[in-house]
Order: sequence, then structure tokens, then C-alpha cells
Amino acid sequence: MTEQTQEPAADAHKTATRLHMASLAGEDLVTWRMAEVENRGNPDDRNLQSEFPMGWYNICYADELAVGQLKPVRYFAQDLALWRGEDGKARVTGAYCAHYGANMAVGGVVHGNLLECPFHAWRWDGDGSCKEIPYSHAIPPQAKRPGCIPGWPVVEANGMILVWYHSEGAPPQWEPMIFPEVGQDGWTGFRKYQWHVYTALENMADNAVDISHFKYVHGATTVPEYEFAFDGISRKITSFLKLQTPRGIIDGKIESLTYGPGQGFVRFSGLTDTILVTGTAPVERDKTHSCFAFTQPLAEVEGPRAGLAKALIKDIVRQFDQDKVILDKHRRVEPPLVCLGDGPFGRNRVYYSQFYAKKQPPHVKDVA
Ligand code: FES
Ligand SMILES: [Fe+2]
Repeated sequence: MTEQTQEPAADAHKTATRLHMASLAGEDLVTWRMAEVENRGNPDDRNLQSEFPMGWYNICYADELAVGQLKPVRYFAQDLALWRGEDGKARVTGAYCAHYGANMAVGGVVHGNLLECPFHAWRWDGDGSCKEIPYSHAIPPQAKRPGCIPGWPVVEANGMILVWYHSEGAPPQWEPMIFPEVGQDGWTGFRKYQWHVYTALENMADNAVDISHFKYVHGATTVPEYEFAFDGISRKITSFLKLQTPRGIIDGKIESLTYGPGQGFVRFSGLTDTILVTGTAPVERDKTHSCFAFTQPLAEVEGPRAGLAKALIKDIVRQFDQDKVILDKHRRVEPPLVCLGDGPFGRNRVYYSQFYAKKQPPHVKDVA
């Protein structure tokens, strides 16, 4: 899918040929998206934020955690244990047992609704309290208390298991957004893609308002019209495109909603209807995990427009590959040196600053 243009696609060609990943395909590309990036600068030199923003974050797709299953996961620079009890509820705690420090996510088992430690079989609930010690009549009072090990607020929404993160341990400040089309009859199941991008989360958020990079990184030959709306914890970006198709020029629209720093929802309309649900979470100070899940109306993927539906997903995924190449090696500039024609970096940074517990004043004004 390409935008209408009067210019030759020379920039697109230049972009494609200068990026190593443009030569990758299939499984090689899937591996490249998640592979460790060697020899990257340290986070201080790269001026990456040391605090993770508060919010609801996807740590696993709901259908990738069965009843009775335990998974080790790492987000927010912490090792976590994720399991689903026999009651069907997902639970998340810190991975390390308060008794003697075993990593319970490795070799532990799910016992009913509780996580049983592999070392001495203490059994923990999702609120971080110890409920049973099979060889002892008395549970120490400290271990009985919720939060003896970190217990994480968990909500399942939009086919994802979301946890609430706050750098100072405050309870959830808002409810996660539920996206209406996900899981409804007449829509496909998720088509999933994932990346590790070696940067701080806020740089990913900046990327969405960086309108001039669409030409130089993604090879767009015109800059579409944009509308930006910042409202509380939500940010809405609407772009209007002219789409060149065999049936002539069609007006396309992309509506992108982020709800806090972790939840994203994009609706593509015009050529083909597509919903993209994104979940992006920090792993380390210089590492993020981005999950893209596409769903489309069955009538489109099985009908005559199936090719278009597929091409749209391919194009969006290619764009994210291109962003990764830049962001993996990027150094955050604070404040950025902006010019007329840039997107609303300033407004975006004001918006984003609300998610840091230790308030950080924004440092950049937009050029209007
Ligand atoms: S270290 Fe977990 S039960 Fe002893
Ligand atoms: Fe981009």
C-alpha cells in the first residue's frame, strides 16, 4: 500500500537499500526482530530515562498461558513469575521466594491457584502472601501478609494479560481500555508480531508524532495530513491518506489511540478495515518489547480484497522494522532541536510526563 504521489519513489529505494534488515525474510526476519543488539551504547551515554512510566502493560497473550501453566517473564528490569490458577485467573508475583531466594518461575509448579516454590514448596498467592508451607504448622506472620513478595495487579483485556506498573508501588490510577472489536464474531483471530527495540519506552511514543520521519525512514513520498488530540491519559492521532489503487484514488484514514504508555489501538479504514492492538512494555532501561496483534473482518480476508488486507499488515510491520533500526542505536536528545515541519514533540512530552511518578518537566516547545 502506498500513498498517492507525484514524485518518483527514490527515497523509498534509498531507505530500503541502506538497511541491513531489508535483505532479511521469513524466519530470519522474525529472529532479527527479537535478537540481542550487540555493542550498543550504555543507557547513560544514550541519555535514556532511568524511570519506567506508570501504566498497564501486556506481558503475555491470554491464549499463551494455559490453566496450570507457569512462565518466567522479565519486564521493568525485574524477574517475574506468571501463572494461571485452576480458577482460570492469571497471577503475577516477583520471581524470588522470600524464604530462601529461589527463582520460583524456574522449576516451580502451580498448585491449585498457588505458586509452589521448587526449593522447599512454600505456596504463594498472586497478592504476594504465603498460604501454605506443607512441612510446617505455622506460617511466619510476615510471610502471611500480602506483599511479602511483590504481588502485581493483573487484568486480562483484549486478549492480553496486563499488569499495572508504578515506580513507587502505587495502585492502579486508571482502568485498562477494552477494545470492542477484539474477539468478536466476524473478525479474525490475532495475527501476531513482536520486536525487542533497544531504547527507552518514551522514544517509541515520540516516534508516532514524528511526522517527518515517515518520508526518510519509511519511504513515504508525501507527508499525510495529521490531527493530534491529547486528552488526559489518551492521545489520538488521525492521519488522512490518498491511496493509489487499481480502482483509482481512495481516501484512507488511520486513527491511532494510545491509552497510557502501554496500550495502543489503531484502526485503518478506506482500502481495507484492519484493527491493530499494540502492547509495548519496558524490559530494561534500554530495551522494550512490542507486540502487534492484527485483526480483520473475515469477509475481507476471505473475499476478493484478501490481498489488500495482507499487504496492509505487511506494510505496517515493515515500517516498524525500519523504526527499530533507528531506535536501537538512537541517543535521546533533551531537548530536541526542532524545526517548522516537525510533529508535536513538545505537546507529546508534556502528555507523556504525567506517567512518571517523579514528575519530569517537559523541555521542548513545538515550532508553529
Ligand atoms: S526458597 Fe522458596 S520455599 Fe524455600
Ligand atoms: Fe516510524
